[in-house]
Amino acid sequence: MLTAEPLSRVLGAEIKGLDLSSPIADADREELLTLFWQHKVIVIRGQDVAPDGFIRFAEAFGTIEPFFISAYNLPTHPQIYVLSNVRQDGKPIGRDGAGTHWHSDSTFTEKPSSATLLHGVTVPDRGGDTLFVNTADAYDRLDDETKARIQGRRAIHRYQRKEFVYSGDRTIDDAERTEIERVKALRMAEAAADAASPTAQRSNQEPDRLHPIVRTHPVTGSKGLYLNDEMTVGIEGIPDEEAVPLLRRLCEVATAPDTVLRYKWRQGDVVVWDNAAVIHSATFTPPDLPRVMHRLTIAGTVPF
Ligand code: SIN
Repeated sequence: MLTAEPLSRVLGAEIKGLDLSSPIADADREELLTLFWQHKVIVIRGQDVAPDGFIRFAEAFGTIEPFFISAYNLPTHPQIYVLSNVRQDGKPIGRDGAGTHWHSDSTFTEKPSSATLLHGVTVPDRGGDTLFVNTADAYDRLDDETKARIQGRRAIHRYQRKEFVYSGDRTIDDAERTEIERVKALRMAEAAADAASPTAQRSNQEPDRLHPIVRTHPVTGSKGLYLNDEMTVGIEGIPDEEAVPLLRRLCEVATAPDTVLRYKWRQGDVVVWDNAAVIHSATFTPPDLPRVMHRLTIAGTVPF
């Protein structure tokens, strides 16, 4: 028997009654999926789970698909993509500074991931929170004129190798902004030096993808805003001088600070989010505080 304690008014719940070190029972799996689609972000706190157990748990949500770039996959379990600011022998052990802008995962592909799971393997005491917004709630908050303007329109999603766009977190002060800019300059220099690497070459080959701005959820049927503020570069059939400010305004409305769930990680937490129902953003981790996250993504379908 699972229980769900809501984390905010519009999304998120902590699920109790699961121990991910053992396989989950079939009845629990069904209940878990129902709670997942209802709450859109679910959290199972403090799980001492090894990569095999994490992979087994992820399979409850569908078929795992490895990230399209393999540079940061865990060598022993290549399905797992490592996000980290830790370096060993001068080399990053995972992707550093990933996802610090509002987005839904892999919208630059034809069939973006349906769900993403993150396991907090090493969690900093400060920073490194993850932010979430309910996109159906965001759509409902739009005025009728804007809804009519975007109905049936498709946005252009483009994978760009911008390593450290920082747009998700609006709560930072000037000192933090300065520190983020310093780290950003460092990361951008590293990315420029890395421009000829297979990873950079591979990511630059991704073609543009068109996805509806108003997405219908494949399971619940709800309508939500489908955005990626770094990779959504325009709207089909609308000149950029109109499309770009419209996309920016949609993102601002969608991410109004009082609607954001800020998740503060604890060691071992497993968080699962529904990419057809939420957008999310990573936030800054001070470079002296290690953060290691294991990420798995579940294959999705063509958005409609
Ligand atoms: C992501 O955007 O996939 C990563 C989120 C995080 O590291 O907090």
